[in-house]
Amino acid sequence: MSESNSNNLKAENPIGIFDSGIGGLTVAHAIKELLPEEQLIYFGDTAHLPYGDKASYSIKHYATELSKFLLDQGCKVIVIACHTASSVANEEVKSVVGDQALVINVVEPVIGKLIRESQNGGKKVGIIGTKGTIQSEVYPTRLSAQDESIEVRPLATPLLCPMIEEGFIDDRISETVIESYLKQDQLSAINKIVLACTHYPLIKKQIDNYYQGGVEIIDSSEEAAMHLKELLTEHNLLNQKLSKEHHFYVSDYTPSFEKSTHFFFGEKVKLEKGSIWS
Ligand code: DGL
Repeated sequence: MSESNSNNLKAENPIGIFDSGIGGLTVAHAIKELLPEEQLIYFGDTAHLPYGDKASYSIKHYATELSKFLLDQGCKVIVIACHTASSVANEEVKSVVGDQALVINVVEPVIGKLIRESQNGGKKVGIIGTKGTIQSEVYPTRLSAQDESIEVRPLATPLLCPMIEEGFIDDRISETVIESYLKQDQLSAINKIVLACTHYPLIKKQIDNYYQGGVEIIDSSEEAAMHLKELLTEHNLLNQKLSKEHHFYVSDYTPSFEKSTHFFFGEKVKLEKGSIWS
């Protein structure tokens, strides 16, 4: 169906959100808070987790297949709730979606905010994310093209995702890992830090503690939710009343994924096995 010219652009249709796993539930949560009348259809590609270490051709393939699944569910907008996929597969997702639905990712809203606010100072910006996101150089490339005065300091922080998934968030282990990354020279004297991974909002408080409030923390899930609201408003696609249930699909179901959902979504959710990959 996704290859037809079907048009999902109706206000009552759901918002489709995907990530490599359950980390993107932080984005789903921010969307639910801001747009409580919208039905959400979430897909976590747990069979291919983590995306952060994968080759870009694999991520492009997964991201386009997930987008087709969400289009077939009637989604009016596809939210790429994964920085790694947003960094390497945005164009491929847009091309497969065409004019059937809108597309947003989690990188553009952050770039927009950094550019808008750069004249207020704070031009030394740290970026922490997976190896895939950092190696894509999406932030330095996009930012320097628009505002040469912003100094971008990217750092891959690959231990943070597995640490968060294992529930090490607010203890000595997480404190040590967070500190050992944030004290690196690459991030010295920054004014802002971008949480360029959808897992990281869970350690926002700990990052803030490290900087003792002296560095502005940019949470891409909040920025993406605000951008989504603006886009739906602009296209007259805001739903008036929630009348259908949310659905949360994963490609590889395990009880431990389900158990962890409350960390990311703020409440436990029931995961359904979605069949995309045979
Ligand atoms: N949630 C993914 C992101 O935002 C990170 C997890 C992964 O490596 O798959 O990049």
